[in-house]
Amino acid sequence: AWTMLNIVEDAVEAVRAQIGDGRAICGLSGGVDSAVAAAIVQRAIGDRLTCVFVDHGLLRKGEAEQVERDFVEATGVKLRVVDAAERFLKALSGVTDPEEKRKIIGREFIRVFEDEQRAILADGPVDFLVQGTLYPDVVESGGGTGTANIKSHHNVGGLPEDLKFELVEPLRTLFKDEVRRAGEELGLPPAMVWRQPFPGPGLGIRIVGEVTRERLDLLREADAIAREELSRAGLDRDIWQCPVVLLADVRSVGVQGDGRTYGHPVVLRPVTSEDAMTADWARVPYDVLSRISTRITNEVSEINRVVLDITSKPPGTIEWE
Ligand code: XMP
Repeated sequence: AWTMLNIVEDAVEAVRAQIGDGRAICGLSGGVDSAVAAAIVQRAIGDRLTCVFVDHGLLRKGEAEQVERDFVEATGVKLRVVDAAERFLKALSGVTDPEEKRKIIGREFIRVFEDEQRAILADGPVDFLVQGTLYPDVVESGGGTGTANIKSHHNVGGLPEDLKFELVEPLRTLFKDEVRRAGEELGLPPAMVWRQPFPGPGLGIRIVGEVTRERLDLLREADAIAREELSRAGLDRDIWQCPVVLLADVRSVGVQGDGRTYGHPVVLRPVTSEDAMTADWARVPYDVLSRISTRITNEVSEINRVVLDITSKPPGTIEWE
């Protein structure tokens, strides 16, 4: 029978055959694809695989720990962590244009990753680079021309073209749901296996306005509350994703206790979708929305208003930037 166990074992065998006694590196993003790819390669070649996690400081609450602690515990992967938050913040300082943010984040990511590569290469040659390419990505890029990109969708996991590594792509024949099942089979942390789509540039493109540490902290708290309440309501599998967006340059008057407040709004953007090309706003039950709103405004000082985005895609995109 063609079980997930067979699929994982076959993938491990294929990687072993490809890499032989060579060494490989793999960048982890916090997402499921790179995690499953890394776990398969780790099974095949053990600590001849070195993983690199560039923490750009733009992940959501708990996600860096998921990689650094839970994923490592689950797989025994050899991991180098780079805390690059300060560097990314500095590079993003004063920048408000969404595409400019993407460019800067992508550029800094590659620079940091290259520095790590050099450090790893100092221990001996590395010929292989592991990537979590899925079957739909293969088909899409094999299609040649590709459709016009409205936003520059370079993944932060993307790498410069001039590197002379041979690619190892253990997920090339799999669809997303198969990758998730493989992740379960490999014993990866459920929060990673079931993580909804999250953009490479992270929270950097969910702050409308300049990205600062304080704003990231606010957004991280609000986002964590929204995710917690949606999960508690059992909606994770119904909702494609739910960006929470901080309108950092907008303030509105509110009242709390006996005091007037003058804080920022956050936007909830829950959507349903098949493939992110089109989307509809998700009809989240009012009582769930109400709990999210109450908790965010109570628990996150400086956020005094929660608004719901009821725009389909098109004309709206899923993200606000
Ligand atoms: P939009 O906003 O274009 O998003 O409707 C479609 C899907 O792509 C994700 N997204 C990104 N993913 N880098 C990524 O890796 C990006 O710059 C980026 N921008 C949007 C978005 O979360 C949604 O799933």
